[in-house]
Amino acid sequence: MFALTDEDLTGPLLGCGDGPASVNAEATAIGAPVVSVDPIYAFSTAEIRARVESVFDDMVGQTAANASDFTWGRGVDDLDDLAAKRRSAMELFLDDYEEGRAAGRYRAEQLPDLSFADDTFELALCSHFLFLYGEQLSTRFHVDSLVELCRVAREVRVFPLLELGSLPSRHLRSVRTQLEAVGVATRIDTVDYEFQRGGDRLLVASAWPDRR
Ligand SMILES: C[S@@+](CC[C@H](N)C(=O)[O-])C[C@H]1O[C@@H](n2cnc3c(N)ncnc32)[C@H](O)[C@@H]1O
Repeated sequence: MFALTDEDLTGPLLGCGDGPASVNAEATAIGAPVVSVDPIYAFSTAEIRARVESVFDDMVGQTAANASDFTWGRGVDDLDDLAAKRRSAMELFLDDYEEGRAAGRYRAEQLPDLSFADDTFELALCSHFLFLYGEQLSTRFHVDSLVELCRVAREVRVFPLLELGSLPSRHLRSVRTQLEAVGVATRIDTVDYEFQRGGDRLLVASAWPDRR
């Protein structure tokens, strides 16, 4: 999703909106310094497990009902593979959560305001939150969130650039124009991973050096 290199993994990394995904557990296991933020980290392991379990079958069922919105074979083979990967990611996360929260690797924070000092991170990653919920989140929210991520990290990568239903983001063009106006440069890269059909593009953003 993020075209990560070995150098990227030297961090420090911020995962924004990581939810019950395994990125923090897996990065930590290979020695990459990472902090994840998400409002759900205000909840306990049991509360998060119950919430994820309660929506799991629906998530798989919705994907089955809209199978043609997805690309199979570029990261996810079929529905069984999707369910197995999601479940194993959640278990990795839940196994790591208590220890990681105590270590400050999981923090209950939310965009568009983060508590970190300027340039705390080399790289911030945000998947399946910005742009995906384009119907619910305004252009202003996207701009404010990306400016904030560029304040706390030297580079920001957001994936994918589609909304639910694999529709092109309604905000992307305007967000890029507004970011440019406040000194945040953006570009779009193509990556090897694609699950939402047509969703193989990544937004890379960073504040211009003279704005840092
Ligand atoms: C669909 S999940 C994506 C999880 C993970 N990044 C992935 O790709 O599998 C969206 C996540 O965004 C989180 N979220 C909701 N509002 C947020 C906010 N204002 N700032 C940061 N994360 C938020 C949700 O709690 C949820 O965990």
